[in-house]
Amino acid sequence: MSLLIKGGEIVTADSRYKADIYCEGEQITCIGPNLEVPKQTKVINAKGKFVFPGFIDPHVHIYLPFMGTYSKDTYASASKAALVGGTTSLIEMCCPSRDESPLEAYEFWLSKAEGLSACDFTFHMGVARYDENAAAELTQIVKAGISSFKIFLAYKGAFGISDYELYHTLALAKKLGVIVTAHCENADLVAELQKKLLSEKKVAPKWHYWSRPPMVEAEGVHHLATFAAMHDTHVYCVHTSCEESLRAAIRARERGVKIWVETLIQYLTLDMTYAEKPNFEGSKFVMSPPLRHKKNQDVFWNALAQGLVSTVATDHAPFDFKTQKRMGISDFTKIPNGIPSLEDRVTMLWTHGVDQGRLSLNQFVDVGSTQAAKLFGLFPRKGTIAVGSDADLVVWDPSYRGKVTAKKQYMAVDYNPFEGWEVTGRPSVVTVRGEVAAKNGKFVGTLGRGQLIKREPTHF
Ligand code: URP
Ligand code: ZN
Ligand code: ZN
Repeated sequence: MSLLIKGGEIVTADSRYKADIYCEGEQITCIGPNLEVPKQTKVINAKGKFVFPGFIDPHVHIYLPFMGTYSKDTYASASKAALVGGTTSLIEMCCPSRDESPLEAYEFWLSKAEGLSACDFTFHMGVARYDENAAAELTQIVKAGISSFKIFLAYKGAFGISDYELYHTLALAKKLGVIVTAHCENADLVAELQKKLLSEKKVAPKWHYWSRPPMVEAEGVHHLATFAAMHDTHVYCVHTSCEESLRAAIRARERGVKIWVETLIQYLTLDMTYAEKPNFEGSKFVMSPPLRHKKNQDVFWNALAQGLVSTVATDHAPFDFKTQKRMGISDFTKIPNGIPSLEDRVTMLWTHGVDQGRLSLNQFVDVGSTQAAKLFGLFPRKGTIAVGSDADLVVWDPSYRGKVTAKKQYMAVDYNPFEGWEVTGRPSVVTVRGEVAAKNGKFVGTLGRGQLIKREPTHF
């Protein structure tokens, strides 16, 4: 099958120009003005529109057994949601428990995706235990094409690892050339603050913030950086939420630590006052690290524009308001942590980033796609528009105006954190490896066509 994207303005992380894009099969085979193409070619008119590389979400939870329940999406609902929102590849966190075999867990997570996903996918391999057996299985998983780990310094007694395990996991990662993504919060501090707040009868959703204040996260970042420096391992702080943590990462980088920073669309747009909403509505906005004081938002928009923060992800973790969030009705520590946003990340980044003049078009592509591709071994197959790259393309309509509503979403969760918010642009056509998968907010792709993207280690 061949496809021509005609007359659009191509934007990558470092270029902007008008040209046609011709795709034969699954890849881009020619780029240039007024291309002559075979008669049977499917033509998409992109006049007046931008054409971006498919966006990449480097931090997603789809199958997540967590806090006594399971997140709501399957690969069917999540990949549809991703695609209508312009995300053509996602990286899911494979999160085994401490007592699971890493290899069996990886195969289980993979079985949830293969044959069902409509978008391409890969995994960060969770390390919840370190011993000789785990190390051997993790080595096998890396050889199978998974070149990043995920660790949790938080969630003591669940996914969290000890300092002994942290030390040895980082050593293994260095040896294998994989980057370690990390949830940075000091688990003991969280546990003690939770106990103190509950003993003072502070049980409502808003107290979640006070059990995980900025310095708890900043300590986690500093802790990670200190251990990473011991082995010169490459590390990536997921869901960085506040200035204190960002400063800890920047200071580490200045000392020579190979550390990168991810923030989330939630932190750029929502703030701690959302968790104060009455009638338990605040629980919709409980995640870890928590939503922060609004003043952090400018810090992060500026840091993105300066390249100090590399990526904007979602940490998509959907739990229903009417049932699952209620598990914490009388104890905030039991509210399943997570805010869904897989479907809305790119339109929110556009609306609040590009449209507000906070990000240039090139920066929008860089933080929404290219940096994730480069950091996680997907580039240049993904994350750019070039001859030989996968034909993952987003034809973007900057004239679209609409409102977010859970009623129309593909995400399998009963609320949307941006309910009623305006958006000022959206994908009009989204392609995955040459096939049209979404059109004007509707999924038109093929479930099961999404592929596991195998990745080579690059972080030696
Ligand atoms: O609150 C969050 N972030 N939920 C998902 C699990 C995690 O920590 O990433
Ligand atoms: Zn986390
Ligand atoms: Zn996460």
